[in-house]
Amino acid sequence: MRRLIAIAAIAAAIMPSTAWAWGSEGHEVIALIAASELTPAARAKVGELLGGDVAGAMADASTWADRIRRVRPETAPWHYVDIEIASAGYDPARDCPNDACVVAQIQKDAVIIGDKSLAQPVRAEALRFLIHFVGDVHQPLHASNNNDRGGNEVRVVIDGARKNLHAVWDTNVVEALGNDPATVAAILERQITPEEKRQWSRGSVVDWANQSFQIAKNKIYATLPGKGGTDAPIILPSDYAAREANITSIQLERAGVRLAMLLNKVLGAYRR
Ligand code: ADE
Ligand code: ZN
Ligand code: ZN
Repeated sequence: MRRLIAIAAIAAAIMPSTAWAWGSEGHEVIALIAASELTPAARAKVGELLGGDVAGAMADASTWADRIRRVRPETAPWHYVDIEIASAGYDPARDCPNDACVVAQIQKDAVIIGDKSLAQPVRAEALRFLIHFVGDVHQPLHASNNNDRGGNEVRVVIDGARKNLHAVWDTNVVEALGNDPATVAAILERQITPEEKRQWSRGSVVDWANQSFQIAKNKIYATLPGKGGTDAPIILPSDYAAREANITSIQLERAGVRLAMLLNKVLGAYRR
């Protein structure tokens, strides 16, 4: 049995990561930033719901939604919102039918987490989803679509490897910041100013999605060195991931701060 577990662990470790969300590093960075921004009251509630040390539990919870995606296929559309690049921005009737998109799911999960009449496991699951989805909505290609499933159908070559544009924005741009989530989170946290925190606390989930969408539209698709949907893959410059560090950093910072603020609001006010 122990050998089986060891083999399963090795298999999981070497499995290629799929183009589903910020890769696990992005989600962990966001969770670690958020953990350090929690109020004592919210921190205690997160500890009750997830158990264990709060930062570690939040980092682990941050990738749970991707791990269960295969066995709960109805959750797959909850990870993104396809806002067409040609549009002006998010339109719930058009972009989020049946609440099956990341914006509606964040709103829903926030309500569930703060509802003390609900059972602990129900609130804990909503918390795991929320930690992940606040990250996803800040990945610009999770809040946009160019008739290409958020870049999943745009073939590119980066560092000599064939990938798709979406996967580059889930993974490569984060890895360009560093390989250790705790180190990256600490560096990003030091860059956040009090004025930024004030600004980022003002908007709604819809504003977060629209901001992410605008980045995809104006900074990712508008500057892509080629056209997707052709036979030839787009060759990305060797410094593509590194030169996007400003966008990546600020989106990870915003996600962490906003996640903490949401949790501070729904859990801080809540009493047993
Ligand atoms: N599938 C379809 N659209 C998507 C998007 N924007 N992000 C991730 N997966 C998708
Ligand atoms: Zn996801
Ligand atoms: Zn993704």
